[in-house]
Parts: sequence; C-alpha cells; structure tokens
Amino acid sequence: MRILFIGDIVGKVGRQAISDYLPKLKQKFHPTVTIVNAENAAHGKGLTEKIYKQLLREGVDFMTMGNHTYGQRQIYDFIDDANRMVRPANFPEEAPGVGMRFIQINADKLAIINLQGRSFMQDIDDPFKKADELVEQAQKETNYIFVDFHAETTSEKNAMGWYLDGRVSTVVGTHTHIQTSDDRILPQGTGYITDVGMTGFYDGILGIQRDEVIKRFITSLPQRHVVPDTGRAVLSGVVVDYDSQGRTKHIERVLINDDHPLD
Ligand SMILES: [Fe+2]
Ligand SMILES: [Fe+2]
Repeated sequence: MRILFIGDIVGKVGRQAISDYLPKLKQKFHPTVTIVNAENAAHGKGLTEKIYKQLLREGVDFMTMGNHTYGQRQIYDFIDDANRMVRPANFPEEAPGVGMRFIQINADKLAIINLQGRSFMQDIDDPFKKADELVEQAQKETNYIFVDFHAETTSEKNAMGWYLDGRVSTVVGTHTHIQTSDDRILPQGTGYITDVGMTGFYDGILGIQRDEVIKRFITSLPQRHVVPDTGRAVLSGVVVDYDSQGRTKHIERVLINDDHPLD
C-alpha cells in the first residue's frame, strides 16, 4: 500500500496547486490512497462543503484537519455526514465530527487518525492517551494505521512518533507549514516526519501575505491575515509505502515549487 499525503492546503493558491499537480503526482507515484490536510483550505481557515466536495472530485480520497477545523461556521452543517474527513480526535467529546475513520481499499482497510498537540496550542484532551485508545481500536481491524499529528512543537511531534513506533504505520506532523527534512523509519517500523509542510502561496509567510505578518513582528500590533488568491505555489507532501504487516518500508518527501520543480 502506498500513501500520498499532502500538507495543509492554504486557500485558493493551495487548491489550485492540487488541481495542477495532483494528476502529475498520481502519475509519478501511483498512490493507493491520497490524503490531504484541509484545515486551511477555505481562505486559510477551515473547510466549506463546496471545497470538501471539490477536493474529492479532484482525486483526494481523504482529509485530515487541525486547529482550524471549526473556522468556517458551515462545517457544523456537514461534518457529521463528511465520511472522508477526520478532525483531531482529542477535541472534547462535545465537538462535532470524529477523529478516526477507516477506508476500505480492495481487500485492505486503512485507519486514519487525526490528533492535535497541546504545546503552545489550545488546551484540549491528552493526544497521547487518545492515541492509545484509538490505536487499540484500530489494531482490531487493520495493520494499516496512518496518523496526522497536528502540532506546533518539533518535540511534541517527535515524542508522538516515538510513542507510537511499532504500533502505527506512519506519524506525519502538520501545522507548522514548513517541511522538515527528518523523514525516517523508526526502529519498530513507523514512518515519521516532523512536518510535511504546506501547500499554498510560496512567496508569503506560511501561506499568508507577508507584509502584514512582517508589520506585526515590527509593531507588535494585531494585523489582519490576508491569504492571497493568486501567486506562485508550493506543494509539500510525503509518500509512504507499507509492507503487508503495515510497517513503513519507504518514506520520501515531496516538495514542488519553482526552486524544486516536479521532475
Ligand atoms: Fe495549517
Ligand atoms: Fe494548524
């Protein structure tokens, strides 16, 4: 089984990058399943039903989310029916949506789990304890378990990778929007990368127009975040291959932009 995972799609430029590159990436890698993090897909914050459906039409099989899950009010209207999406599982029980789903691929089943960190983020439930609970459930059904851990600090993501080594197929980090070059296979067979990076406006700061962000650093005054609709794009992702036991046997970063064109 081969998974193509693409990091945080930010706004229109990110969505356009999916339209432009996903067919080519599928041709190159022939993934069994394509998963994207869609927490920033609608103007940088959250996901609308229209964009959810559009991404599925364009060849995305599944979406993970993050701290911006509830950024668009209309998510409340469709999240319960969105069976191709998970939101961080360690949000309090009252939050709509679910944190783990299974998808069937021919004879195999893949569990997709979304978790969110707590260091320098919202104080939600313990992601490590939640991981224990969900991994135990998932293992009853399948060897193939994919985890998107949406977290701010490299250490919390690193800790989750090691904590789940040998119990899940892959732990990918998302949220910081900058790809890290530490993709590896941990000793017990879990594929790991601290952050996959984002898919969106290449000439901004984390996918956001840079002027306001720079101004905020200089003045310490609040600024409006602007997510541009046009501009050069970057696409960040990772490809992982599993053996029949659900261990990662190969992990490879994907980074496409004008400095690193798709070959
Ligand atoms: Fe994000
Ligand atoms: Fe995030």
